[in-house]
Amino acid sequence: MTSALYDERHGFYSRAPSRAGDYFTSVTVHPTLFGTLLARHLDDVWTALGEPRPFRVVELGCGDGTLAGQIVSAARGRPWREHLAYVGVERSAQARARARTQVPTATFTASLDAIDAGPTAAFLSNELFDALPVRLLQRDGGDWVELRVGMSDDSLALEPFRADVEAMAYARRYGSDVPDGGIIEMREGVAGVYADVRRIARRWVMTSIDYGGLATEMHGPRFNQGTLLAYRQHRASEDVLADPGSSDLTAHVNFSELIDAGARAGATAALLGTQGDFLTALGIGEHLPAVQRRPDLSVADYTREREAVFQLVSPTDLGRFRVLVQARDAVIDRLRGVPAAAATPQPATGKDDG
Ligand SMILES: C[S@@+](CC[C@H](N)C(=O)[O-])C[C@H]1O[C@@H](n2cnc3c(N)ncnc32)[C@H](O)[C@@H]1O
Repeated sequence: MTSALYDERHGFYSRAPSRAGDYFTSVTVHPTLFGTLLARHLDDVWTALGEPRPFRVVELGCGDGTLAGQIVSAARGRPWREHLAYVGVERSAQARARARTQVPTATFTASLDAIDAGPTAAFLSNELFDALPVRLLQRDGGDWVELRVGMSDDSLALEPFRADVEAMAYARRYGSDVPDGGIIEMREGVAGVYADVRRIARRWVMTSIDYGGLATEMHGPRFNQGTLLAYRQHRASEDVLADPGSSDLTAHVNFSELIDAGARAGATAALLGTQGDFLTALGIGEHLPAVQRRPDLSVADYTREREAVFQLVSPTDLGRFRVLVQARDAVIDRLRGVPAAAATPQPATGKDDG
């Protein structure tokens, strides 16, 4: 999966022009809206971190810098504008090159390793975790096997192998609701991201936006054959081995794992909610009335704006995505969208602690 997505020549994310037609994200549904709302969220994060100067904002998996550009533009007139040090982290060299051209005032780097340690940072990601490669684990009676990619009759095929210690630990913690024969995905690299975050800042807020849910939803009877799909030209296919490098391979995110990894890095989960609710708390409802006041507004323009708002908040569209805000040593009750303490999700969310 790593090669199919990230091989420098043949990987999906390295084949620059193919990307645009295969997926869209909240960042691309409107030229400014998502970034403007996230800039409002960064107002709160800056305050929660004690108004740090510089204000380091690290965007993980920033792609071609589209969100970075929106946020840097929306920063104009904000008190943290002149203190902003925006760093985009992007694995694909092609996307990084485009990002540098789009947003010359930001810095772009291939990995978190390149970022120095400092007192504070705000971390941000949209659809990073769903793009991290996964391993497939299948329940086999009281045991688990790993499904690995092999060859059968000259074509790629999944073959069962004994699960290793790491896979067994994941499956036991998060997969106890999965029926016999059921499949779950175990995402690689999550612990590494949080270890880097912990190294980079002593006090931090991390906002992760992605599709998925808690382990009880993601690794339960509803998705008993797992959630891994191949997307090509906006069409989903379960044949994830077909024509490697030509499609986006992605699986739902187990937010319980992110919450647990954050807890190990010393952070509390301040919010786990839907994107729809989060953007509503940040004032997306003010957008259409503001658009209506434009003197030169055409019906076609208004329809486009309304459609973008709908896509971002609707529970049948991107609004169903989850937003996780984790914080270490920050004043989290200053963050819009964060519920009262009673609604705060608990870090330990796996069913089986064994
Ligand atoms: C689904 S795309 C999302 C791009 C962008 N954030 C957006 O919302 O449009 C995921 C991005 O994460 C990048 N990525 C995946 N793993 C990464 C890693 N370990 N470090 C940095 N970037 C990574 C991919 O190259 C890809 O550009």
